[in-house]
Amino acid sequence: MEEQMIFAWAMMFCLAIAPVYSGYYYSKTVTPGEKVEKLTHLHFFLHDILSGENPSAVMVAHANLTKKDNSPTPFGSLFAIDDPLTVGPEPTSRVIGNAQGLYLSSSQDSSKFTIVMYIDFAFTTGKFNGSSFSLFSRNPVTEADREVAIVGGRGKFRMARGFAKIKTSYFNATTGDAILEYKVTLYHY
Ligand SMILES: *[C@@H]1O[C@H](CO)[C@@H](O)[C@H](O)[C@H]1NC(C)=O
Ligand SMILES: *[C@@H]1O[C@H](CO)[C@@H](O)[C@H](O)[C@H]1NC(C)=O
Ligand SMILES: *[C@@H]1O[C@H](CO)[C@@H](O)[C@H](O)[C@H]1NC(C)=O
Repeated sequence: MEEQMIFAWAMMFCLAIAPVYSGYYYSKTVTPGEKVEKLTHLHFFLHDILSGENPSAVMVAHANLTKKDNSPTPFGSLFAIDDPLTVGPEPTSRVIGNAQGLYLSSSQDSSKFTIVMYIDFAFTTGKFNGSSFSLFSRNPVTEADREVAIVGGRGKFRMARGFAKIKTSYFNATTGDAILEYKVTLYHY
């Protein structure tokens, strides 16, 4: 009888401390101003190098094109990138992070070279070391002054959204190599 009591108590104790997985969601109302939003501006250069022994962008898939296209980035080609980000435009400039992901050559009109970018920009130094923001956007590469959308982020860029203004600092149409200036405006927590 006493043993049964102890067993019953032990059972109750176990049930009481077992976590309760009763639902898969939890919501609450957030009062505006509960978390203060920050505005951050970033300025850097991205080096997208297709040529040479150690390219930072490599073609990983392409359409079975009927016409031979002379462009290094024909319509339907998909590139994987791990591009360095630097403080200045020179290839020897100090590296502050890297952009990793994919871009797709998305315009059938080869005179309007356009890519759609699926890229995570991470920083490896300074205040934002270990943090990254996510760019998902169309980028009309041939336009002088263009804008892309930033849709999220990690670490210090949690809940980020904003945009980046991109200008071409260097472009070689033969190789596809490019150095691009990024001016980023981000709202984040
Ligand atoms: C790719 O294109 C070549 C040449 O036009 C053709 O012979 C081949 O069958 C195509 N392959 C596929 C999978 O469509
Ligand atoms: C950046 O963060 C990593 C991981 O926490 C650390 O190992 C590294 O030393 C940091 N770099 C700088 C320059 O702060
Ligand atoms: C583009 O790259 C090719 C091959 O490396 C080179 O011969 C050419 O001079 C470059 N053009 C420009 C404008 O830098």
